[in-house]
Amino acid sequence: MEKYLGKKEKYLGKKKVAIFISGRGSNLRSIIKYFRKKNSLIKIVLVISNNFDAKGLKYANKSKILNYGFRSKSKLVFENQSLKLLKKHNVDILCLAGFMKILSSNFIKKFSKPILNIHPSLLPKYKGLNTHARAIKNKDRYSGATIHKVTKKLDSGKIILQKKVKILKSDNPKSLEKKVLRIEHEIYPKAIKNFLTNL
Ligand code: GAR
Repeated sequence: MEKYLGKKEKYLGKKKVAIFISGRGSNLRSIIKYFRKKNSLIKIVLVISNNFDAKGLKYANKSKILNYGFRSKSKLVFENQSLKLLKKHNVDILCLAGFMKILSSNFIKKFSKPILNIHPSLLPKYKGLNTHARAIKNKDRYSGATIHKVTKKLDSGKIILQKKVKILKSDNPKSLEKKVLRIEHEIYPKAIKNFLTNL
C-alpha cells in the first residue's frame, strides 16, 4: 500500500512520534534504532532539544530525522515553538528521553496527546534528580527504570513499564547509572510500541 503513496502521504497510517531531549541522547539512539525498520508502523518524525548543543541532535541529524535545538533559555519560547512544530507534524505521541525540563501544565493541556517519560528509578521512589545516589544511600537492594505518563505532577503519572536491576554492595552511583541505562535502552522502545498499539 505504502509504495503507492506520494511523498507527502508517506507516513499515512503510521503513528508519529516526537522526542524531546536535553543532552547525550542515548535513549533517543535506542528508540531510533528500534523503529528504523522499513515496515515499522511507528515513525520518529521530530526531535527537539531545549539545548542547542545536545549531542543527541547530531545523531538525529545523521539518522535524517527532522530536528531542532533551541538557543533561547526561555521556557515559554521553547514550549510555544515546540507546540507549533508538534501540531504541524501531526505528532501522535511525545516521548521525553533525558529531557531535563519540567513541562508546564499549559503545554500538557495544549498538546492534548499522550506524553511519556523515562525515569531512572523504580517510581514512585526517587522522583526528581540524583536517583542512583539516593537508592545507594538508602541501601536499597534494587533500582531500575520506569516509563510513565507525564502529568502536571512531576514523575507521578501512570506507570507503563518498569524493570529492576540488583544493586550490589560494590555499586556506586556511576556503576548503577550504567546498569540502569542499559535497562532504559531495552524498555523504552518496547513501552512506546506497546502503548501505541493499545492507543
Ligand atoms: C537517562 O538516564 C534518563 O532516564 C534520565 O536522564 C538520562 C538521559 O540519558 N532522565 C531523567 O532523569 C529525567 N528526570 P540519555 O540522554 O543518554 O538518554
